[in-house]
Amino acid sequence: MLDLHCHILPGVDDGASDPEISLRMAAVAADCGVRHIFATPHCNTRSQQKNFRDRRLIGAFRALQTMLDEAGIPVTILAGAEVLARGHFEEHLAAGDFMTLNGSRYLLLEFYFDEEPDYMEDCLRAVERRGLTPVVAHPERYFCVQRSPELAQRWAEGGRVLQLNKGSLLGELGPEAFETAALLLRRGAVSVLASDAHHFLRRSPDMLPLLDCLARRFPEADPELLLRVNPLRIAKDQDL
Ligand SMILES: [Fe+2]
Repeated sequence: MLDLHCHILPGVDDGASDPEISLRMAAVAADCGVRHIFATPHCNTRSQQKNFRDRRLIGAFRALQTMLDEAGIPVTILAGAEVLARGHFEEHLAAGDFMTLNGSRYLLLEFYFDEEPDYMEDCLRAVERRGLTPVVAHPERYFCVQRSPELAQRWAEGGRVLQLNKGSLLGELGPEAFETAALLLRRGAVSVLASDAHHFLRRSPDMLPLLDCLARRFPEADPELLLRVNPLRIAKDQDL
C-alpha cells in the first residue's frame, strides 16, 4: 500500500512532534503493509510553519528517509504537502511555492471546514490553470459537502481527485463525516483513501482497521485500487 496523506515529517506542523514519533509512525505503517508514505505537512496555514518549497523543507524529507533507512524500516518517503487554500493562494501557486505529490501534476489541497463553495471552485480552477490536478483532501469533512455531497461528486466528475480519510470511514471524525464519506465511496466518486495520520497511536497510520471496515461495511469498494493502484499512479504522475 501507499499512504497518500500523512503528517510524518517531524517538527513542521501538528503531526509528528519529533523524529522518534516519525519513526514509530513509519514502523506502524510498515507493519500493516504500507511501503510508501507521502509526507504531506500542512502548508500555507495561518498559524503553523508555512512549509513552502525550499531547501530546508527538501532537506527535511531527505533527513527523514535517512533516519528510516538507518532504523531498517522498509518505507520510502515521497515528498508532498497538504496545501491550505487561503490567503495569497494564487500568488504562491504562481510562484511555485507548493510541493506537489512526489513532484507530479497532483496537488493535495485542503480547505477550511466552513469554506464557501465559490471560493473552493475558484481555487480548484486556479490549480488547473497551472496545469495541475487537484487532489481534494478529506472532502467529507467540509460542511458544504456534508450539506450537499453532490458538490464533491461534481468535482470528481470534473476530474478532481477525491481523497477520503481513514478516520472518517471508521467513524472517528463525527457522524456527518462518516455519512458523507460512506455516500461518496458508495457512489464511486472516491479515488484514494489515506490515513491523514498525525501520531502513531491516535490518528495513526495503521490501515488494518480500515481494510477490515471496507470488507465488512463497503464490500463494493476496491481496496487495491484505493490504497495501492491509484496512489501509485499519482506517485508516477500517471492518469487515474
Ligand atoms: Fe492532513
